[in-house]
Amino acid sequence: MAKQVKNEQMDKLSSLCKRRGFIFQSSEIYGGLASTWDFGPLGVELKRNVKNLWWQDLVVSREDVVGMDASILMHPKVWEASGHVENFHDPLIDCKNCKTRFRADKGVFYFKCSDCDLNFRVNNGFLEMKDEFKKHFGADLFAEEPDHYKNSDCPHCGGKGTVDAEKLACPKCGSADLSSARQFNLMFKTHFGASEDSASEVYLRPETAQGIFVNFDNVINTARIKLPFGIGQIGKAFRNEITTGNFIFRSREFEQMEMEYFVKPEDSQKWYEYWVNERFNWYKKLGVRAENLRLRPHEKEELAHYAKGCTDVEYKFPFGWSELEGIADRQTFDLDQHIKASGKKLRYFETETNTHIVPAVVESSAGVDRTILTVLADAYWEDAEHNRIVLRLNPKLAPIKVAILPLVNRDGMPDIAKNIFHDVKKHMAAFFDQGGSIGRRYRRQDEAGTPFGITVDSQTLEDGTVTLRDRDTLEQVRIPKDNVVKALKEKLE
Ligand code: GAP
Repeated sequence: MAKQVKNEQMDKLSSLCKRRGFIFQSSEIYGGLASTWDFGPLGVELKRNVKNLWWQDLVVSREDVVGMDASILMHPKVWEASGHVENFHDPLIDCKNCKTRFRADKGVFYFKCSDCDLNFRVNNGFLEMKDEFKKHFGADLFAEEPDHYKNSDCPHCGGKGTVDAEKLACPKCGSADLSSARQFNLMFKTHFGASEDSASEVYLRPETAQGIFVNFDNVINTARIKLPFGIGQIGKAFRNEITTGNFIFRSREFEQMEMEYFVKPEDSQKWYEYWVNERFNWYKKLGVRAENLRLRPHEKEELAHYAKGCTDVEYKFPFGWSELEGIADRQTFDLDQHIKASGKKLRYFETETNTHIVPAVVESSAGVDRTILTVLADAYWEDAEHNRIVLRLNPKLAPIKVAILPLVNRDGMPDIAKNIFHDVKKHMAAFFDQGGSIGRRYRRQDEAGTPFGITVDSQTLEDGTVTLRDRDTLEQVRIPKDNVVKALKEKLE
C-alpha cells in the first residue's frame, strides 16, 4: 500500500465531493470523527448505483448465485472459528518521543551498502522510492519486504548490503526511542444486552463473508442450488484501523460487496481464474480506464496458510497503485473451521457420487467505498479548453441523469421546463434548476457528473423543440420536447 501523502489530486477530489454534496466528513459540526464519512444527496445515489450494478451483475443476472443479508452482530464464536480473534490484528508501536502510535510494519527500515554509499528506505513510502530509485540508478528495486534485503547484494554496485532492522524509527519524528510491539485486534467490541461484563461482549463484523459461511446450510437447504454456486452479500463492515486515510480509501466503517463461490475442491483453480477475470472486467464495464487497472497476484509468502491463490485488483489512485478488491481461492478452510467449532455438518450432497463433500470456496471481496473512490478519481477531468471541471462518470453510475433548465426565468420557459422535469422524473433521476446564469448551471452539473442537459429556450416557444446537451462533447442537438424521455432512455442504454 502506498503511504498517505499530501496529495493535490486527492485534495481537489475531496473538495469537489464536499462542494457538490457527494461526501462529507462525519459529525463535521463537532469537529468531525476521524476516518468516518457521510454520503450526501449525490453520494448516496452514486453509492446505490454502484451497489445495484454489482447486485445486478453478480446476483440477479446469474443463475448460479443467490443473495443474502446477514446481521452485523453475530455470535462471538463465529470470530473465534474464523480466526479473527486470534489473527486479525496489527502490531503496534508507540513512539516515546512524540507519542505517535504506528504499525510496526510502517516503521522505517534502511538498506545500507558497505561498499558504496547507497542507503535507502525499504518500506513506508517505498512505492514513491521505487521511481526515484529507477531514475537514479537505472535499475529496478526488486522487493518491498525488508527481509528480502537481508544479506542481499546492493542493487547499485552489487556489493554487500544489510537491512538495518534495529534502526526502526518513528515515521513522524524519526525518533528511535520506541516501545516494543504489541498486538492490537482490529475488531470493534460492543456489549449485547444490558450487562457490560465480558460475557456480553460481541463484535461488529469486520467482514461480511462470515455471515455467508455460517448460513451455508440454510441456503443450500432452501435455495435448491447445485455446485458450483455462489452467495453474494452487500453490507457494512467495521475495523478499528490504525492507519486510516486517503479520504474514503481506508476508513473504520465501510461497506463490502462479497461473493463466496462454492465449488468442488478439484475445480477451485479453474473458478479462481474465472473470477479473477470476471472481476477485472467488471471495473472496466463501470467505465474505469483499463490503463489504471491491474491485477496483482500475491506472492507465496503473502498468502494465508490455507489459501491456494489470491489476486488483488488494483487501481492507480492519485496516491499510487492500491487494492480495490481481492479474489482468493480459500479452499475448504472457512467451512472446515465452522464445522469444527459448531459441530454442524456443513456439507453438500453430491448425487452423482452419492457422497457428502465440503466444497472449496473462491471469494470475491470488493469495497463499495473504494469502488466509489475509483470511479470518482477516474472520472475527474479538468477541461482547460472550456474552463470547467467535469466528472465523466459512466451515465449508469451518475447520480443525476439529466438536468432540466429554462434558459431564462421568463416567457413561460420555467413552466415548460418544469413540465418536462415532472415527466422525466418518473423514469430517472433528474434535476430542475432555474437559478443563475445558464453557464454556471451547466458547470454545476458537469461537476456533479450529470451526463445530459435539456434546455428550454426561445426556440422552444416557437417550434416545441429543446436542446439536448452532452456533458463530455458539449454537443447540443435539438429534439421535440415530447421526445425527451424517449431520447434520454435511448442514450442511457
Ligand atoms: N473477506 C475478505 C476480506 O474482507 P479484505 O482484503 O480484508 O478481505 C476486502 O477486504 C475489501 O474490502 C478490500 O479490497 C477493500 O476494498 C475493502 N476494505 C477493507 N478494509 C477497508 C477499510 N478499512 N476501508 C475501506 N475499505 C476497506
